Amino acid sequence: MPSAISVKEVTKTYPGLTALGGVSLEIEPGEFFGLLGPNGAGKTTLISIIAGLTRANKGSVSVLDHDVVSDFRMSRRLLGVVPQELVFDPFFTVRETLRIQSGYFGLTRNDDWIDEVMSNLDLSGKADSNMRALSGGMKRRVLVAQALVHKPPVIVLDEPTAGVDVELRQTLWKFIARLNRDGHTIVLTTHYLEEAQALCTRIAMLKAGQIVALDRTEELLRRVAGLQMVLAIGQGQLPEALRDRAIDRDAAQRSGKVALRLSDSSEVEGILAACREGGARVDDIELQAPDLEDVFVQVMRGNS
Ligand SMILES: Nc1ncnc2c1ncn2[C@@H]1O[C@H](COP(=O)(O)OP(=O)(O)OP(=O)(O)O)[C@@H](O)[C@H]1O
Ligand SMILES: [Mg+2]
Repeated sequence: MPSAISVKEVTKTYPGLTALGGVSLEIEPGEFFGLLGPNGAGKTTLISIIAGLTRANKGSVSVLDHDVVSDFRMSRRLLGVVPQELVFDPFFTVRETLRIQSGYFGLTRNDDWIDEVMSNLDLSGKADSNMRALSGGMKRRVLVAQALVHKPPVIVLDEPTAGVDVELRQTLWKFIARLNRDGHTIVLTTHYLEEAQALCTRIAMLKAGQIVALDRTEELLRRVAGLQMVLAIGQGQLPEALRDRAIDRDAAQRSGKVALRLSDSSEVEGILAACREGGARVDDIELQAPDLEDVFVQVMRGNS
């Protein structure tokens, strides 16, 4: 079975900048895949190349074995992309927008599916509203709907939940998870790492155009060993002897919250005693299991 998305040695440069520096990635059919990384890491650039909207300088990309350049029409048909930027035609209603999008794929009688998509995204009430009259979050729902009108087997969402309310996020994830259960491959970029942790089975982390981590989510989480203890230091500083334990060494030099690595909860007492002796007043402690944000911070600092 071909990869849902195959990215081979892709390089993309802009004058004075390497947006992607030789990225290779295989995403299998049925995966719920996360593409994470800080602003400017190259996520949208990679998605634009997959969607055939931007040309790579080197390398190749295919969607279910169809090259995105030489076999653009087929690869585009197999793909649904929710873009990061809100782009739409203000003169059409929601339903018209979705009908026009269906028309691009030669689907002339698509209203049953359009209605189902709108209903799943809580858009039905806005079907006859003009696009320009919609709020930002509603426009984003339409972008998601547009990407799904042709029931693409591979769905790529570039920050679909940026700036949208809790209700839409929950509605959207329920729908996307259903599509994934039905066999659709999902690729997601998001800065909400708790969403990625809950949804994605495998994750790639990009940094400055390079993949710096690629693994199953549970394996990534396992890399951050043990527990974390978050100390709220009201006065003084974390004693020098404890700074090696700090997950963020810069934070360890200030008062306020600092997260320490623990291999065992029996270490709590010793740490508190060391703080007391070092003149640091601890106002609060919290024990936490590691999460994807911890992994992300470690990976981006280059010490994982
Ligand atoms: N058309 C362009 N011309 C010049 N530079 C560009 C262009 N498009 C993107 N870049 C640069 O390429 C790099 C990667 O940008 P990209 O949009 O892919 O990042 P991203 O990972 O999606 O970030 P974000 O999380 O902010 O969406 C950035 O440094 C960006 O400024
Ligand atoms: Mg982006």
